[in-house]
Amino acid sequence: MAERNGAALKVEMRGIVPADFGEVLRIINCAAEAYRGVIPADRWHDPYMSAEELASEIAHGVVFSGCVVDGRLVGVMGVQERGKVDLIRHAYVLPDYQGSGIGSRLLGHLCEASDKPILIGTWQAAEWAIRFYERHGFVRVSKDDAAALLRTFWDVPARQVETSIVLASQVLSRGAVDELISGSQRRS
Ligand SMILES: CC(C)(COP(=O)(O)OP(=O)(O)OC[C@H]1O[C@@H](n2cnc3c(N)ncnc32)[C@H](O)[C@@H]1OP(=O)(O)O)[C@@H](O)C(=O)NCCC(=O)NCCS
Repeated sequence: MAERNGAALKVEMRGIVPADFGEVLRIINCAAEAYRGVIPADRWHDPYMSAEELASEIAHGVVFSGCVVDGRLVGVMGVQERGKVDLIRHAYVLPDYQGSGIGSRLLGHLCEASDKPILIGTWQAAEWAIRFYERHGFVRVSKDDAAALLRTFWDVPARQVETSIVLASQVLSRGAVDELISGSQRRS
């Protein structure tokens, strides 16, 4: 059970449904305030994610799970199947609930449901997020491998490739990265 200010929280995980759209967008943009002034200024947008972008991500196969605490949706995390790998996409917990174990629950929930190598891309500057994933056993891939993986499995601009890192659920040798990439259709 997660805890907040010393009190036990009633935590439930559930799939996100269309009626949650506005709340998911709000959670993402509230939590993404952590990036303000941290990620490169040319990558920051206000709001960080528009409704159109979120709708497009869902249309492109990002399936969100949510964490409900005492009846309130407070955290979301998505998974996107990309052939030989699953991507964890858009992990956000409302600021008041961060550090309570919600993100860990969501990550565990998505990892349990996957039987493929899992990749996560995040900003190089988001040190707290990198530490969070490393504490859960994810390992950073090399800069060159990260660039190749980002270009293959994500649809992000070149500037985002330069300023992001990739973590994997298992140690990936250069050969293993090549094997994942081979035969996979590039997103962009
Ligand atoms: C990254 C994020 C999703 C993690 O979710 P979370 O619910 O805060 O994560 P947890 O509480 O399960 O774990 C956070 C870890 O940091 C520690 N922590 C303590 N205080 C914290 C705080 N105020 N904020 C975040 N983490 C804190 C926790 O003890 C925990 O350490 P552990 O893994 O060794 O137990 C969430 O903090 C967030 O939305 N951050 C802003 C947006 C972001 O960076 N998203 C990641 C995109 S890739």
